[in-house]
Amino acid sequence: MEFAAPEIAGQAIPGQFVMIGLGLPGEPGLFLPRPMSIAQAEGERLGLLIRIFGAGSRRLTALEVGERALLLGPLGSFFDLGSATRVLCVAGGVGLAPFLFLPRWAERHAPGNRVHLVYGERTASAVFDPGRIHELAGVEPEIWTEDGAMGRMGRVTDRLDVARVDLVLGCGPVPMLKTLQAQIAGTGVPAQFSVEERMGCGVGTCVGCVVAVEDGGRGWRYERICVEGPVFSAERLRWSI
Ligand SMILES: Cc1cc2nc3c(=O)[nH]c(=O)nc-3n(C[C@H](O)[C@H](O)[C@H](O)COP(=O)(O)OP(=O)(O)OC[C@H]3O[C@@H](n4cnc5c(N)ncnc54)[C@H](O)[C@@H]3O)c2cc1C
Ligand code: FES
Repeated sequence: MEFAAPEIAGQAIPGQFVMIGLGLPGEPGLFLPRPMSIAQAEGERLGLLIRIFGAGSRRLTALEVGERALLLGPLGSFFDLGSATRVLCVAGGVGLAPFLFLPRWAERHAPGNRVHLVYGERTASAVFDPGRIHELAGVEPEIWTEDGAMGRMGRVTDRLDVARVDLVLGCGPVPMLKTLQAQIAGTGVPAQFSVEERMGCGVGTCVGCVVAVEDGGRGWRYERICVEGPVFSAERLRWSI
């Protein structure tokens, strides 16, 4: 979905998200706004990739051209490409969203990067159109499906070669991120993961979105995914305690 949101689109960095709602009291299923990754930010246009899960996402995707939504953002931390030149993006399901934005953003802000995008879904019917991915992201995705109905058969983490990259970025379900974290551990390749959790406010006040992270050698602590995250250094993530 595309929105005219120049203030957000002009500042957005891949990995950041918006809270989107309708701001209408009594709107069924949408009392709280929903967190969605920024999937495109081009001029005045802000793009979101919304998968229907429940009442809120269903209502949002039923918006008609010309209707208004309430958008708050850009929120949270972002992927930091640093001096990396060979970047591997690993997307599971709708975790694809930030990687529709990142490659072209990197072309503009961190030239010299080569981005390889690996994207997996359970089945072919859930795969976002590869041609459209190419058009939006500017890279050809390597597609995996668990049943093998499209692309390679298996999971995105089945045959990852992290030895030839200098940064790994991940976004997707927690089990996928945990597998990725285990594969990267000990390789010396830095990784950053975008983490999802249910969100109430999206701006740090309700403390409903925490994840356990390493606390600089002092054990662990909880950090808020909406403010300190959603992007965390993979080696810091301890998930839950
Ligand atoms: C940082 C971040 C980025 C996200 N980016 C995307 C994206 O780009 N595209 C996309 O389709 N989805 C994304 N999600 C997940 C999306 O927010 C949920 O799918 C959505 O909120 C579900 O709402 P619902 O009303 O359809 O489902 P319901 O199950 O009816 O939701 C009930 C409540 O739980 C919360 N909730 C349920 N599942 C999630 C979840 N996985 N994450 C956070 N809150 C949840 C809802 O906000 C709502 O308050 C993201 C989540 C986070 C935290
Ligand atoms: S969603 Fe309220 S503190 Fe993160």
